[in-house]
Amino acid sequence: MTDSTFLYDDGDVDTNRSANGHLNDLIASRYSRRQTLRGGLSAMTTAVFGGVLLAGCDDDDLLQRESVSVSAGQVATTSAGKTVTLQGTPSSTARTVSWTQVSGPAVTLNNANTNTATFTAPAVSASTPLVFRFTGTTGIGDAATADTTVTVTPATLDFTAVAKNRNDLVTVPAGYLVTVLYRLGDPISANTPAYANDGSDANFAMRAGDHHDGMSFFGLAASGATPDASASTRGVLVMNHENITENYLHPRGQTTTGGVRPEAEAIKEIEAHGVSVIEVTRGASAWSYVQTSALNRRITPNTPMAFSGPAKGSAMLRTVYSKDGTQGRGTINNCANGAMPWNTYATAEENWAGYFRRNRGDAAVRTAAGQAKENTSLSRYGISEGRTGNYGWTTVTPADSSSTIFSKWNATAVADAAADGSADFRHEPFQYGWIVEIDPYNPQSTPRKRTALGRMNHEGVSAGRMIAGVKPAFYMGDDSQNEYIYKFVSNNGWSAADGNAADRLAVGDKYLDAGTLYVAKFNADGSGQWLPLVFGSGPLTSGNATYPFADQADVLINTRIAADLLGATPMDRPEWTAVNPANGEMYCTLTNNSSRSVSRTDAANPRSYVDPRTDGRSNSVGNVNGHVIRLRENGDTTEATAFTWDVYAFGAGSDLNKDNINLSGLDDSNDFSSPDGLWFSLPSNVAGQGANPVMWLQTDDGAYTDVTNCMMLAAIPGRVGDGGTKTVNNSTPAGTSTATTRVGKAPGATLKRFLVGPKECEITGITSTPDGKALFVNIQHPGENGGPDNITSSWPASQTGTPASPSRPRSATIVITRQDGGLVGI
Ligand code: FEO
Ligand code: CA
Ligand code: CA
Repeated sequence: MTDSTFLYDDGDVDTNRSANGHLNDLIASRYSRRQTLRGGLSAMTTAVFGGVLLAGCDDDDLLQRESVSVSAGQVATTSAGKTVTLQGTPSSTARTVSWTQVSGPAVTLNNANTNTATFTAPAVSASTPLVFRFTGTTGIGDAATADTTVTVTPATLDFTAVAKNRNDLVTVPAGYLVTVLYRLGDPISANTPAYANDGSDANFAMRAGDHHDGMSFFGLAASGATPDASASTRGVLVMNHENITENYLHPRGQTTTGGVRPEAEAIKEIEAHGVSVIEVTRGASAWSYVQTSALNRRITPNTPMAFSGPAKGSAMLRTVYSKDGTQGRGTINNCANGAMPWNTYATAEENWAGYFRRNRGDAAVRTAAGQAKENTSLSRYGISEGRTGNYGWTTVTPADSSSTIFSKWNATAVADAAADGSADFRHEPFQYGWIVEIDPYNPQSTPRKRTALGRMNHEGVSAGRMIAGVKPAFYMGDDSQNEYIYKFVSNNGWSAADGNAADRLAVGDKYLDAGTLYVAKFNADGSGQWLPLVFGSGPLTSGNATYPFADQADVLINTRIAADLLGATPMDRPEWTAVNPANGEMYCTLTNNSSRSVSRTDAANPRSYVDPRTDGRSNSVGNVNGHVIRLRENGDTTEATAFTWDVYAFGAGSDLNKDNINLSGLDDSNDFSSPDGLWFSLPSNVAGQGANPVMWLQTDDGAYTDVTNCMMLAAIPGRVGDGGTKTVNNSTPAGTSTATTRVGKAPGATLKRFLVGPKECEITGITSTPDGKALFVNIQHPGENGGPDNITSSWPASQTGTPASPSRPRSATIVITRQDGGLVGI
C-alpha cells in the first residue's frame, strides 16, 4: 500500500469481523437490559475476540459500572520509513485511551495517549508484523483493549523517477518540495546588506561564498551553542565553497589592466572561496538560515590555520608567514567533506595547485638552495614552471604594501631569500592539499590541518563505522586522473564517550593525528591490499632514487610520490567516498577518465570506449561516464589491510551497448554519467538503518549533458559480490582490449533518479537532519558557461517561475522535504 493512514470508520466493532456476531449480540442484549435497570453501562466478560476486548466484572459490578469497548482499526501493510497512523475508536465511556506496542521491532509511538497515534515504520529485512494495542479505560479503571497488526515490508524507493531534462529548474518527484535556502552572496550578519546580484556586491567574508559543495548538518541544542544529535529543526549547516564563476562576481566580469588585476576584484574572488558555517532553522512553513546567528562564520583563503599531526613544523611548511611551519593561512578549493563522529566538520582541499604561480627559473633556485627534490614534488602535484596561477591574484598591488594575501600565491623561490623558505612563499604549495578540521560550534576556533591524512587533491573524507575499541578508518579519494584511493587508520581505538566531548578538536587530535595512511591496490581476482605509507618501510627511505624521503612528514607531504613507489592502482579519478552504515562497505565514485586508453584498462578500471554526442560536439573517449567501486574490508573491520571489491554500478547512457559499456543495465529511470557526490542516509533515521540503507549519488557531468542536466539518484545497494565477473571488450579509434572486471548485481529499481538540476550546474553536497525529513543539497555553478551579457541560467530565480528578465545565476543550497512531512526517498 502507499497510503499508510489507517482510518477506521466508526464504533461498529463488528466490521470485518464476522465471528464477532455471537459475543456482540450477547453484549447488546445485556447492555439494553441494564440500561433499563440502572441507566448505566457495563459489560460482563473479558474476552479477546476478533480484535475486540471488553472489560470484565462480576455480576455485582454490573449494576454500578459503565462498559467500555474499543476498536484498534484494520490490519494493514506498509513499508519501512512510512509514517503510520493508528486510529483507535473507543466507546464514549472511555475516559482515557492509550496505544502500546505488543510485538515486533520497537518503534516510538507519537501521541500514544490519544485515539490517533503515529509511528515511523522501522527498517526491516523481510516482511515483519508489528502488533499494537489500543486501550480505553473508564473513570473507575475498567479497561478494554483491542489489537491491530501492521505488517512492514523492506524500504523501497517509493517515488516516480524524475525524467532526464535540460530545464532551468530543480526537478524533484511529485510529492516533494524544494526550498532555496542559502545562495551565493546571501548576508550572514545583521549589518551586511542584501545581495544585489549585479556584480556590485563586496564583503564576501560575511556572505555566502560561491560554488557550494560538500556539506554537513549538525544538530543544535536549545542553548544555541552545543550539539544535539537529535535536533531536526535547528542546526548548524557547514558547507564548502569550492570555486567561483568569476564572470558573475563583477559588474562586467573580471578585469585586468596592463596585466594587473584590481585589488577589490581579487579580494572578492578570494573571499568567495572557503567554507560557510551558518545556523539554519525550520519555521512553521519552511527552512531558512539565521542571518544574525552568532555561530555564523566564513572561513576563507585568508583565515588562520594550525598544522597538526606528523608534518606540523616540517621544514617544508616554513614560509615567511609561518617561520616554524606550524601555522598556516587559508583553505581553498574545498570540495567534498566529512562529518566526524565527534561533531566536527572536515573539509578537503582539492584543486588547490592551480592557484599557484611559479615563474620559470624557480627550479634552478631551489636546486641551488639544495632543495632539488622540491622540484620533483611540485611537478608531481602539477605545479610546473611558467604557471601564472588561477585568476592572476599575484598580479595585484595591494593598497597595504605589507599585505601578503596576494603574493602568497606566488610559489616562486626568491633567489637571494633564505634557503630554508622562511623568507618567501616557495613552500606555500606544501601548506595546501590537506584535510582541514573545523569545530562548527565554536566560531573562535582555529581550523586544524590534519597532516596524518596525507597531501593530495583531497576530494573528501568519510569515517568508517565507529565501533568501541576498534581503530576507526577514514576513507579518501585523490581526484585527478589515475590517482589513488586512500584510508587512514587511527592509532587509537574508538571510545564512544569521545562522541560527546566538549573539546571537539582535541578529539580530532586523538583520532586524526596519529595512525597509518594506506593506499589501495586492486587485484584482478577481486581482492585488494591496503599498502602503508610509512617512512623507512619498503621504498620510502632517504635512499630512494626517485625521491629521498627525510621523515614521515616528508612521506605525508609527498603522499602521491610515496603511493607511486608502493605500486598503488591508478583509478579513474576518485571522488567521494561513503561508508554503508549497515555493513561498513566503502563506496567510491570514479567520475570519469579521458586518459583511460584501451591499453591501460584493468580489472578495477575496465572500460575505454567512445561516447557519442548528439549536440555536434566531438565524441568523448576513455571511461567517459565513470563508475562506482566498492570494497569490503576483510573481517569487516576498519583495521583490515586487505579487502574484496566489485563495481557497484557503471555510468552510461541507457542507449549504449549493454555488453561492453552499459554494464549495469541502466535504463531511462536511472542512467547517469560522471558520478561524484556520494552519501548514505544517516543511521539516526530509517532511511539509514537496516541491512540496506539508502545511498545518494550525485553527478558532475560534461558527457551526457547533451541529453540531461546533472542529477541526483537514490539507491538501495546490495553488497560486494552480489553480481559476478564480466569481460569487457573495449574499442576506440586507438585500438581494442579486453578487461575482466567484477560487477555488482544490476541495480534495476533499486537505483532511481530523484532530482535533475538547472542548466550548466553540478549537483554536489548532501546532508540531512537527523530525522531524515529534510535533505539539504547543493546546486553548484548554474549557468557557468555564461556571463553578464549572456546569462545562460536564471536559477535560483527561475525555481519559482520564469523571471521577467534574466537573473544572474547563483550557486545555492536547497532543502528538499516531503509535502506530507515524511522521510525523504522511501
Ligand atoms: Fe571538486 Fe573532484 O570534484
Ligand atoms: Ca566533487
Ligand atoms: Ca567534481
